[in-house]
Amino acid sequence: MITARKSIFIKTYGCQMNVYDSARMADVLEPHGYRQVDTPADADLIILNTCHIRDKAVEKVYSELGRLKKIKQAREADGRGSMLIAVAGCVAQAEGEEIQRRAPAVDLVFGPQTYHRLPDMLAEVRRRGKVIDQDFPVEDKFDCLPEESASQGPTAFLTIQEGCDKFCSFCVVPYTRGAEFSRPVAAILAEARRMVIRGTREITLLGQNVNAYCGVAPDGGNWRLGRLIRALAELEGLDRIRYTTSHPQDMDDDLIAVHGDVPTLMPYLHLPVQSGSDRILEAMNRKHTVDSYRRIVDRLREVRPDLALSSDFIVGFPGETDADFVGTLKLVTEVTYAQAYSFKYSARPGTLASVAGKQLPEAVKAERLEALQQLLGAQQMAFNRARLGQTMPVLLDRPGRKAGQLVGRSPWLQAVHVMAPSQLFGSICDATIQDATTNSLAGVLISSPPEMSASAAEQTRAT
Ligand code: 5AD
Ligand code: SF4
Repeated sequence: MITARKSIFIKTYGCQMNVYDSARMADVLEPHGYRQVDTPADADLIILNTCHIRDKAVEKVYSELGRLKKIKQAREADGRGSMLIAVAGCVAQAEGEEIQRRAPAVDLVFGPQTYHRLPDMLAEVRRRGKVIDQDFPVEDKFDCLPEESASQGPTAFLTIQEGCDKFCSFCVVPYTRGAEFSRPVAAILAEARRMVIRGTREITLLGQNVNAYCGVAPDGGNWRLGRLIRALAELEGLDRIRYTTSHPQDMDDDLIAVHGDVPTLMPYLHLPVQSGSDRILEAMNRKHTVDSYRRIVDRLREVRPDLALSSDFIVGFPGETDADFVGTLKLVTEVTYAQAYSFKYSARPGTLASVAGKQLPEAVKAERLEALQQLLGAQQMAFNRARLGQTMPVLLDRPGRKAGQLVGRSPWLQAVHVMAPSQLFGSICDATIQDATTNSLAGVLISSPPEMSASAAEQTRAT
């Protein structure tokens, strides 16, 4: 094993799955002497972990590669040694050789399913130059990964499922991430236990289609997501559970019931609907209707009345009429969201929607996006303002910008700014909300957790 110290800079684009994968890439390279640095100029190895979901995300990667090429040349010209540039993730999986054609400074290209082989790939690059690995290997990547080498912190991601079999007609994910795969229950419980021991108090279970989870269980059966959440809820020290991203079709009865039964499952759900028009949902191959989505939301709110919702929307899908778009606005008005992501449709290579249906002019997409975002923004603001005066438990998981400030997460995934001594980092404290903007809340701590030392309690009162 090579153990000389080397430095690595990882830049992550796109979804939380990529954030998790980047942390695991660092775990794979750590025993090989790599430590992470914060600036690309200091790095022996740069990995861009990329996203292919929309055109814009891909173009960002190519412009970053243009900047990195100059850094690589400057470093080599200064005699500071060579620098390897790797492109990982979904652009790597989808574009492979195209990346090396457009960005010859790239040494290594590898997809989301092979990063457990990173040390071998790097050795191969050193031996014979450029390497492209777009394999969907038979071995399970997760079986080959080392244990996590560092804590992700008080809030952490845990990938339990990958891939997608749904084939929404706009989406590249089934092609870049491959078929649905669920990790075994025992491996997930063991990883969650290690995370808790290292100080994690909130785990977000991740999957492209996380509620399609169906993993082999120690009892020999297959567990769906609801059952897995019930088992995770038994873990001492795991105070909060979340999961993302879900598909309405996979919200089964047990999972809906779990929202009412498990208090540590946080009252916030990201449930993408994409459109409020049945005609468009059908063209999108979404396999649900506006009404079936609404019914799921109603059932969830019945079992968990304080549940807040988030969603994804696409405007300007091929063939979308004004009436279809009005349907989307109507659905948003009826459901009301605490937060949401909305996008202009972006035609992606290899997807059905990019060749079927009438593509809409950019100006129409822009106008609809603006209207939808105004409505969603107003709902987000109203949701945040409704917290004013409320007291809620906040998990303090990062330092604030101001001295003496910490930022935490509310049960509804809002950022909450409070003045608090640094000893409270990682603890869950009650805060009363005094200010609300569209993107965050600010409050004052009114209680400290029982495990807090007397001196920290003293400082809380002083701030
Ligand atoms: N164009 C625009 N938005 C897209 N999404 C996925 N594919 C596309 C596309 N081609 C959005 C969907 C999905 C989110 C992750 O990205 O709303 O839920
Ligand atoms: Fe893409 Fe649809 Fe699968 Fe989500 S469910 S990853 S939008 S194909």
